[in-house]
Amino acid sequence: MTDSRTRLLGLIGDPVEHSLSPPLHSFLLARAGLNYCYLVFRVKRDALGAALAGVRALGIRGLNVTIPHKEAVVPLLDELTPEAEAMGAVNVISNEEGVLIGANTDGWGFLKPLEVRGVPLLERRAVVVGAGGAAAAAAHALLSAGAEVALVNRTPARARALARRLSRLGPVEAAAPPALPALLRGAELLVNATPVGMRPHVGETPVPRELLREGLIVYDLVYNPPETRLLAEARARGAVTIGGLEMLVWQGVKALEIWTGAHFGEGDVRAALDHLRGGLGDG
Ligand SMILES: NC(=O)c1ccc[n+]([C@@H]2O[C@H](COP(=O)([O-])OP(=O)(O)OC[C@H]3O[C@@H](n4cnc5c(N)ncnc54)[C@H](OP(=O)(O)O)[C@@H]3O)[C@@H](O)[C@H]2O)c1
Repeated sequence: MTDSRTRLLGLIGDPVEHSLSPPLHSFLLARAGLNYCYLVFRVKRDALGAALAGVRALGIRGLNVTIPHKEAVVPLLDELTPEAEAMGAVNVISNEEGVLIGANTDGWGFLKPLEVRGVPLLERRAVVVGAGGAAAAAAHALLSAGAEVALVNRTPARARALARRLSRLGPVEAAAPPALPALLRGAELLVNATPVGMRPHVGETPVPRELLREGLIVYDLVYNPPETRLLAEARARGAVTIGGLEMLVWQGVKALEIWTGAHFGEGDVRAALDHLRGGLGDG
């Protein structure tokens, strides 16, 4: 229920129809008893400036930003947090009395599931498959936490470009898919940052099952379905698995903390995960 004190939050992107952000944020806001409302806004690229003027004019408290606006929004904001500045991408806008501050909680959200499992990252080797926005966030976070990163991408030139961009943060190399077996033998962590295995292509996997083993942590950023073929095969072969829904919930929790000042803990995250899994189904 809303009243005259209800504050507005939302998501801008295109498309936004299937976003999990509304059920996630609405669930956590209700759980914490916070008087906010979260809506989605499909915003075309050429309307981005007008949308932000609307945020200022209407006093909208904050927005999530998704594809294709995460980079385009950067020059339109008043300030950036150091993470957003370093990533050149914003997924959270906070309206501080008319001053729009861009933040990036994807890296933090990516690391949190590893942190709660006590996974050490310092000087550990990680293989990230993919070289798009999610791979950039994961690799950036891993390098900042002291890990060594190998980027493996279908289009190797894109992996090389990303590796060059991140190289000031720590040891990062780019490789083509044939290097995957050798790289995985020496790695502790595998991250899938491609959409391979996402619904409706649930029979596909980015990494052959023979390369998965006990002692490897397999983290799939795909969250629909919650358990991908990659994760099911990794689990069957004795690997520790982490699904993309966890990153999604943690980056959302951090955004809510920025907007509302409330704190959300592991119990809230577990409840939100159950809520979202229930909506997505298991398969
Ligand atoms: N859990 C979360 O919170 C979260 C957050 C962000 C994204 N994600 C998920 O992460 C995935 C990637 O998102 P993104 O934003 O990084 O996308 P993106 O910027 O479009 O990048 C996609 C990457 O996947 C590769 N790729 C695409 N199809 C492939 C295929 N059939 N075989 C091999 N490689 C393929 C692309 O390779 P090329 O360079 O060769 O095209 C590219 O490197 C999506 O499933 C998204 O839902 C999850």
